[in-house]
Amino acid sequence: MSSFDNKITARAHTNIALIKYWGKQNAKLKIPTTNSFSLTLDKFYTETSVTFKENYTADRIIFNGKPLSDSKAARIVALLDVIRGMANQDIYAEVNTTNMVPTSAGFASSSSGFAALAAAACKSIGLNLSKKELSRVARRGSGSACRSIYGGFVEWHKGLGDRTSFASPFNEQPDWNLNVIAVMVNQAEKTMSSTKGMEISKKTSPYYNAWKQVCKNDLKNIKKAIKNRDFEKLGSISEENAMRMHALTLSASPDYTYFDGKSLQVIKTIQSLRSNGIPCYFTMDAGPNIKVLVEPQNTDKVVQELKSLFSTDQIVVAAPGPGIEYL
Ligand code: DP6
Repeated sequence: MSSFDNKITARAHTNIALIKYWGKQNAKLKIPTTNSFSLTLDKFYTETSVTFKENYTADRIIFNGKPLSDSKAARIVALLDVIRGMANQDIYAEVNTTNMVPTSAGFASSSSGFAALAAAACKSIGLNLSKKELSRVARRGSGSACRSIYGGFVEWHKGLGDRTSFASPFNEQPDWNLNVIAVMVNQAEKTMSSTKGMEISKKTSPYYNAWKQVCKNDLKNIKKAIKNRDFEKLGSISEENAMRMHALTLSASPDYTYFDGKSLQVIKTIQSLRSNGIPCYFTMDAGPNIKVLVEPQNTDKVVQELKSLFSTDQIVVAAPGPGIEYL
């Protein structure tokens, strides 16, 4: 048997940013322009097995049971190249990755995907990394993945370069009952990737400098809100931060948007529930789907309202989830 034949399986959960990452100071190393802050979710995760073997002649990437085309596999292979470089090894891997979602709702995510890949691949090639180092490696796959190494509330410190840009836990197991209702409004693949979108926003939005200040203030205030268990503050900061991120898409040149008609319907529903005394807040990433923050005593009411617009399998109720696990 060769010295490399070590199949390692890791599981990472998706995280939802409450203070968004939207722009890089260094595109190659994925160093962001701002700190960001997220909540890892229990219901959406990726399981990835990696086996490095000396007799493989190329990487082989299997995604949800099917081999990935070379163009789709390129980003995964690029992260494997980073890991090979760190381990000073010149060997290929078989990667088998599955996105686990509770219904047909989808929500495949690069955050859980690259976190699981980084964890499984590093271990399989013989690198025993701390979580901080693992977070740096996951970041090279996709920025938001660096936060999925940890559970609960997580902060990504932008840093100045590769060594100083990583996530750390703010509160891994919050003793605070929270729900995030994920609403799948549209499954179509997005036309503007987050990588490309944030690049255009940073280059062309006249509001980009203001965004950096917004994130600084929001970060300080959201930490205070969590310490004080102030749900309305947590929710309103998250919602405003999301809308200000989306303002960077609308104000870019060329302008673009991730909203579709259904996203706006959900937003109106949430705003109307709120004006009827039910504290609930939305956030949205680089796609039309919406996530609603709500406390458990109000979750059913919000779900019932959303069911007048969507089928049951388009709505998933999630809660805070754990960090990286080896299976
Ligand atoms: C809107 O992490 O997908 O979800 O680093 O270019 O791979 P790359 O981008 P990615 O961007 C995530 C953007 C976001 C906000 C966030 O998760 O912070």
